[in-house]
Formats: sequence, structure tokens, C-alpha cells
Amino acid sequence: MNTSEQRIKIALQKSGRLTDRSLELLTRCGLKFTQSKDQLFCYGENMPIDLLLVRDDDIPGLVSDDVCDLGFAGLNVVQEKQLELQQNGSAALFDQVCALDFGHCRLVIAVPEESGYSGLESLRNARIATSYVATLGDFLKRQEIDAEIVYLSGAVEIAPRLGRADFVCDLVSTGSTLAANQLREVQTILKSEVVVIQTRASLCAEKRTWINRLLQRLDGVLQVRESKYVMLHAPRSALDRIVAILPGAESPTIIPLEGDGDKVAVHVVCRENVFWETLENLKSAGASSLLVLPVEKMLA
Ligand code: PRP
Ligand code: ZN
Repeated sequence: MNTSEQRIKIALQKSGRLTDRSLELLTRCGLKFTQSKDQLFCYGENMPIDLLLVRDDDIPGLVSDDVCDLGFAGLNVVQEKQLELQQNGSAALFDQVCALDFGHCRLVIAVPEESGYSGLESLRNARIATSYVATLGDFLKRQEIDAEIVYLSGAVEIAPRLGRADFVCDLVSTGSTLAANQLREVQTILKSEVVVIQTRASLCAEKRTWINRLLQRLDGVLQVRESKYVMLHAPRSALDRIVAILPGAESPTIIPLEGDGDKVAVHVVCRENVFWETLENLKSAGASSLLVLPVEKMLA
């Protein structure tokens, strides 16, 4: 079980905006690990799972080549690799198994603030600087637009100022990079978040079991983030109205209250956020003694 062949290897971004959240998610799934001195390898102490910290752009390739079994990476780099391989006549040997609801960003086309833009037609025969050659190429092809793609591995946002391009196609998260470079967003090409990819190579039964266990735990961790446990008292006559107000409620547990024939206690898990406004509406509908508790763990 502990030979390195049988341990699951997960590729993660080594330093960047996805790193901390990825490690935190795995910790919440129960994984304990020690990090190597150079910080590029984490050994899982309590599960046969090791982490490889690499450049984010390398993650899809490592999973496709079966160097790693799983990878956590932005859909932007995953899709770029898929399209790049496809355009070279081969195929990515991995599947997307779930999305992790963090690292949200978008790949956009942007133009210098002072330049005009009148829709996609403006891109015709223009020069567009990007690191996402395959994704941009695929978009332009589908829109039947001929344009020149200028590949830059980084600092794409300064290409117009250097006279190297008329447009840029780059990732936007907060928008501060575009703003700092006097660029304005004109077209979204892809909406992205972190996804888990799994190699298509066949895995031994033991690895499959651990991967399924991990994916189930990840799902549980994502679900509890928004979930709340709500307890309240209500007159029986108001139950239908109250349950209808509770956001994303599963079927509630109804408990009679000792010594009160009419009132009941309602316990329910809400799968969506419970706001002050929700509590006020519940109170108006007849609820009292309202309690909202965070959910620590959940297993479907
Ligand atoms: C992206 C992109 C921009 C920046 C935008 O780079 O290339 O430079 O983020 O983010 P903002 O809208 O919050 O300013 P990233 O940090 O992902 O680095 P990488 O492309 O080198 O992986
Ligand atoms: Zn990168």
C-alpha cells in the first residue's frame, strides 16, 4: 500500500492564487501532510496521497501523461491543453471530474481604453496578444474571424503599449491588471474556476477506492460551505409557509413541543446561505426561537 507506485499523486499549483485554497480543501478532507524542504512535494501522512507542486500550466500535461493521477487546475489551463492537443491531432488523456467553486476568473479580450470597438468585427485582421493561443484560436475560428495571434508567455497586458498588438486576450480576476494598464474588457471567451482532472490511464483498485473517497469528501466539503442547520419553533398551522421560506431546505424534522399541543420544533438543513432577511421573513410567518448553526461535516 505504501510503495510509491500505489500512492496517488495530485498535481497542484506551486505558488499562486490557487495554492492556498487547494491545500486548505485537501486539509478539510482530512489529509495530513509534511512538506519537503524545497516545498515542491507533500507526503500524505494518513492517506496514500502525495502532492506535487508544479507550474499551473504543466498540470494538465502531467495528468494526461499519467505522471499524476489527479490535478487541480483552472479550467482555463485545462481547456487550453485540451484544445492544443486537439489542434495537433491528438487528445488529452484526462477527464474533468468535478469543479471546486474557487479560483473564479474569465478569459477576455480587452482593448486600450482610447481605441474604438464595435463588436467582434473589429477583431478582423487585428493582432491579439495572448498566452492562450489554442483557446483564442478556437474562439476566432468558431466566430469565423481571421486575426493574427501574437503569443506571449507573460506580461500580455503591456503588448498594446509596446506596439506589439492591438488587443490582448488574458485572464481577469479582480480586473485590477486591466485597469492598471488602461485596458477595457470587450468580450468574454471563457468562464473559469478550479476543476479536478483525472488521468484516463487505468488505476489499480486500491487507488480507485481512495480517489472515490477523496472526491466524495471534496463534495461534502463544498456542500457544507453554504449549508446551515436551522432550528425554530412554529405553530403547526404556519408550517407550510415556513418551510417554503427556508432556502434549499431538505425535508424538515418536526418535533412536538412538550406541554404545547399546537407548537412544534422544526430542525432542517438548508443547502443555501441563510440571511438576516430570511430570519425576519420566518419570524413574520410565525416562527420563534430561531437558531442558525454552521455545519461541520456532511456525507451524502
Ligand atoms: C493573470 C493574468 C493577469 C492577472 C489578472 O495572471 O495574466 O496578469 O492574473 O488578475 P486581476 O484581474 O486580479 O488583476 P496569473 O496571476 O494567473 O499568473 P499566470 O498567468 O502567470 O499563471
Ligand atoms: Zn500560469
